[in-house]
Amino acid sequence: NGFQVFVVEDEHEGGKVAFELVQAAYAQGAQVFGLATGSTPETLYEELKASNLDFSDRVSVNLDEYVGLSGDHPQSYRYFMEEKLFNEKPFKQNFVPNGLADEEAEIQRYNQVLQDYPIDLQILGIGTNAHIAFNEPGTSFEAKTHKVKLTEATIEANKRFFDAEEDVPRYAYSMGIASILEADQIILLAYGPKKAQAIRDMIHADKTEQIPATALQDHANVTVVVDQAAAEKL
Ligand code: GLP
Repeated sequence: NGFQVFVVEDEHEGGKVAFELVQAAYAQGAQVFGLATGSTPETLYEELKASNLDFSDRVSVNLDEYVGLSGDHPQSYRYFMEEKLFNEKPFKQNFVPNGLADEEAEIQRYNQVLQDYPIDLQILGIGTNAHIAFNEPGTSFEAKTHKVKLTEATIEANKRFFDAEEDVPRYAYSMGIASILEADQIILLAYGPKKAQAIRDMIHADKTEQIPATALQDHANVTVVVDQAAAEKL
């Protein structure tokens, strides 16, 4: 399969390695950058902000957004991206699903965005249950943008960002696995022991919709950047 694994010391070194890959893609003319939220890509975004790479003629497309949160809600993914990257590093355009939009129209709009702006380089994190974006176990590998019901495991993992567990939205809009696989190049980042099983399964388990990240076994160009703890079970 197309996995290339880099084991790094920690998330700071991981951010630097990922940055170099982004820089190389940029230099080769990558126009559309698929971006992810979660704590994992934050060190990459720090590197991007500190760099002099100019994204003002490039486009970003984010993976997902909570249903029911407006883009200026502090826990929304739009807000996260503005705080962590876009405010300091402007792009020509930043696409993020709109958590307040009508479901059918929003799904159609986002699929059109993906058609108009095919992703050159996609950044991914991974959930402890091996979800990618918000594609939870059981999601069809054929899915494009869709509305998903978050699993208890994901709600539990993400509640740390909210005042109370009840505040964590139960649904999200997410790019589907089929859309993610269309990116020319993928960089998947994972740090810490909680990700070790998911990383092992992604690479070594038989491909199954029960383990969403195993879909990446079909992609020709996935670079995996992990620390020692996340690489433990490889
Ligand atoms: C959320 C996001 C995923 C992300 C995952 C892991 O569920 N939708 O895109 O990969 O969390 O988050 P973290 O990087 O904080 O571990």
